[in-house]
Amino acid sequence: MTPVAYLDGRFLPLDEAHVPVLDRGFLLGDGVYEVIPVYHGRLFRLHAHLARLEYSLAETRIANPHDRDGWREILEELVRRNGGGDRSVYLQITRGVAARDHAFPPEARPTVFVMSHPLPPPDPEIARRGVSAVVVEDIRWARCDIKSISLLGNVLLRQAAIDRGAQEAILLRDGEITEGAASNVFIVEDGRLITPPKGPRLLPGITRDLVLELAERHHIPHHERPISEAALRRADEIWLTSSTKEILPVTRLDGERVGKGEPGPQWRRMHTLYQDFKARLAA
Ligand code: PDD
Repeated sequence: MTPVAYLDGRFLPLDEAHVPVLDRGFLLGDGVYEVIPVYHGRLFRLHAHLARLEYSLAETRIANPHDRDGWREILEELVRRNGGGDRSVYLQITRGVAARDHAFPPEARPTVFVMSHPLPPPDPEIARRGVSAVVVEDIRWARCDIKSISLLGNVLLRQAAIDRGAQEAILLRDGEITEGAASNVFIVEDGRLITPPKGPRLLPGITRDLVLELAERHHIPHHERPISEAALRRADEIWLTSSTKEILPVTRLDGERVGKGEPGPQWRRMHTLYQDFKARLAA
């Protein structure tokens, strides 16, 4: 069955959703997006995602076409029409359709597009073997805190990782770790959880915040502070977090073992806390 999508006020089959070629998202990458997980038919951390969307829209000066209740209605209806369950929702807003010019068009109306796909359960192989990552120089722009649809930098970085046989690129800027190509980064050092502080160099991840919240609630020592390349390379554990992949243990970095080369005890604990948290919300 084709997924049901939402485009500018209408629900329709995804393969019938079309946007004019003059849309500024297509021509200029002029838009922002969100990816929201859905568990048991319920949008997960919706308010946090909508708050980040509001921030991205405000920073790019694109008018927000809906208030939070309006967004909730559209997203819940889309989830329902697609059969609920565990899925991801992708939502994108561009500055709209206008003659091509870099300057903001005076009259364009934002284009709103939402689609949803099933979210496969975490691969059990990951808990056994983890994933591999490589360290790559962060070539992106200076406003990575905006969830922009202009993802060319991220695309090239992720592909650089794939080309080297790894799943993710961990990014380095001026000697410090920023994040992954499509994830945030944590390390475990002497039992303490460390992740870089928020700022313009990284996306304020919703999963990142939840991991910190769970650490706080369960008295796991945690700090938001810069991670040097050396600290990353000697870390006991490295994790990647994102809405679609949850928490991934990195067991090989640039071909070298991380810790004992298997998912570590702190990852196991946080993974369990995260799954428990999801299960409680669904209940
Ligand atoms: N990406 N950093 C970057 C650059 C990302 O693209 C993402 C997520 C994250 C993690 O954020 P969150 O925990 O809110 O998903 C960090 C999404 C999943 C994507 O582009 O598909």
